[in-house]
Amino acid sequence: MSLNENDLWLLSYYRSSEINGALFFGRVARTVRPGRLQAELVHHFADEANHARYWNDCVNDLGADPIKLRDSYQDRYLEAIGMPASLMEVMAITQVFEKRVIGQYRRHLLAPDLHPRVRQTIEQIMVDERWHIRYVRDALREMEDRYGARHIAATVDRFTRADEEVYARTLAEYGERVAFLEQPAAP
Ligand SMILES: [Fe+2]
Ligand SMILES: [Fe+2]
Repeated sequence: MSLNENDLWLLSYYRSSEINGALFFGRVARTVRPGRLQAELVHHFADEANHARYWNDCVNDLGADPIKLRDSYQDRYLEAIGMPASLMEVMAITQVFEKRVIGQYRRHLLAPDLHPRVRQTIEQIMVDERWHIRYVRDALREMEDRYGARHIAATVDRFTRADEEVYARTLAEYGERVAFLEQPAAP
């Protein structure tokens, strides 16, 4: 069984987004001070790079090569909110973004006729994505003394609204390629 055009497009889109994630966290990991967050960010960078590899391998195993895509979710996202101005903003964006990713993969797992090889890839990635959400949440909590809990919460809210807009626009634009995503997610 091979991939249809829409599936190939979506898995290629995931691959591109994971690559962008890796490049983003690679840059962040290079700039932070020595310490635990530095180690977590370099781990995160490596995870996202692996996710891109898992998608590449998955598409190859299904008899195709990923499509070269210029557009990525993160580009749109950063366009909408601007570059983060502090490490706190980086972590706040990351929290919103990681929730989006995990929600997206969770929805994809509910797609009818999901290929077992795709399911396996998503499940493998989700293990790491759950850790990303946890460590980012803890890092933001530790920043409360410095930035203030209310300021952090307001920043997360602002980025959440931007993410909702970007996601709605993305769905509208890619239409039937991602039609299954418009079905309501399971509770
Ligand atoms: Fe990832
Ligand atoms: Fe992630």
